[in-house]
Amino acid sequence: MTKSMVMAMAVCVGIAANAAAQDAKAKGEKVYADSKCSLCHSIGDKGNKKGPLDGVGSKYSADELKQWVVDAKGMTAKTKATRKPDMKNYALPKDDVDALVAYMQTLKK
Ligand code: HEC
Repeated sequence: MTKSMVMAMAVCVGIAANAAAQDAKAKGEKVYADSKCSLCHSIGDKGNKKGPLDGVGSKYSADELKQWVVDAKGMTAKTKATRKPDMKNYALPKDDVDALVAYMQTLKK
């Protein structure tokens, strides 16, 4: 195999991975909207400004973001969050949780 072929393949794999990440982000945005997260949270200037999520992608790891969705009660206790009403645990399909986490990981300041 020539060096240029290897290069071309590497570029293709990169594009495919990027497209997959874009898909997950779009799906995550939809899950966020469908789950009505914006009742208590804002992203940019949309939603409830008492709980801005801008920057959660740099504040938390993917695993911690996932915990916030599936075990919000646990994370509330862990971070000693006091805002009311507090967040409930979401029982979403695994794919939805993954997409939501992928979306939140893009929220960086
Ligand atoms: C009933 C209100 C409510 C709803 C609905 C809600 N949350 Fe929360 N969430 C909270 C509260 C309260 C906290 C604690 C931190 C704070 O005070 O903002 C929190 C914290 C978080 C955090 C950590 C924020 C940080 O900066 O520490 C993330 C991430 C999060 N929520 C994601 C979500 C997602 C995703 C949804 C939708 C699936 C959602 N929340 C729905 C009330 C809510």
